[in-house]
Amino acid sequence: MIKACVIGFPIKHSRSPMIHGHWLKRFGIEGEYGRVEVRPEELREFLGTLPERGYAGCNITLPHKEPACNYVQNLDDRGQRTGSINTVYVRDGQTFATSTDGEGFVENILWRLPGFSFAGKTALILGAGGTSRALIDEMLRRGLARVLLANRTPEKAEKIAKAFPGKVTTVALAQLDKSLAETDLLINATSAGVADAAKISVPFAKLKQDAVVTDVNYVPLVTPFLQEAKAHGHPIVPGLGMLLHQAVPGFALWFGKRPVVDEDLYRLIARDIDPGYAG
Ligand code: ATR
Repeated sequence: MIKACVIGFPIKHSRSPMIHGHWLKRFGIEGEYGRVEVRPEELREFLGTLPERGYAGCNITLPHKEPACNYVQNLDDRGQRTGSINTVYVRDGQTFATSTDGEGFVENILWRLPGFSFAGKTALILGAGGTSRALIDEMLRRGLARVLLANRTPEKAEKIAKAFPGKVTTVALAQLDKSLAETDLLINATSAGVADAAKISVPFAKLKQDAVVTDVNYVPLVTPFLQEAKAHGHPIVPGLGMLLHQAVPGFALWFGKRPVVDEDLYRLIARDIDPGYAG
């Protein structure tokens, strides 16, 4: 029996067990993917004993993505560049780690907008946390020309800009008009927008015509940010697909088969979030 899990604090809302459970069933693999609540003070010990606990690996979610980098034995290039990991796997009794968030983000856009290309494009990203860093890293690998980065706390955006010299320019959140006019891809990578009260507001009327708009948040499935973008006629890409796509490499590393994200899986998880989802 191959065993994997997701760790975080809190963890009970994680939908990763549903995603991996769906694929285990689909492939007929005798495996198990659970949820384990790990408090910050327990993280080091948990990751240090992952092989002894019989796990093939685990996913890592909030608030552990950054500190976990210090507690794995081998950190790949992506993990080193972004300082954040979400996937750990065991080989020969050692722990290896990577981040699949950037890949999940990019693959979601390409899944929903076949033919889309990042090459030569300008992205405007709202938010400068660990997620932004992962998205920037992967989009630049896919040929993106430049990133305009706006954050409530400007110092955090400046810090990220320094990590990607010549590619990332910081802009003021309160003065987005000029940046919006140059934007091909607008991304809400803040954790705001989950509730209406914390909605992030953008003058969509200034956004370049035909610019694609996406959000890393997926509750509700179409966030207020995406609803507004849609009302202004922009193509939108909901964030749930990112969650599904970021899970693919982990499943392949632990269980040995590379799953495909399809509408069956999307519907399953979308209905768990919104029982009225009719897609
Ligand atoms: P993650 O690792 O998922 O990116 P994070 O590091 O906590 O999470 O980053 C959350 C991002 O959302 C930050 O950019 C944060 O802005 P600050 O750096 O100023 O804290 C942003 N954010 C959260 N709530 C927000 C709100 N109500 N308005 C604007 N930005 C918000």
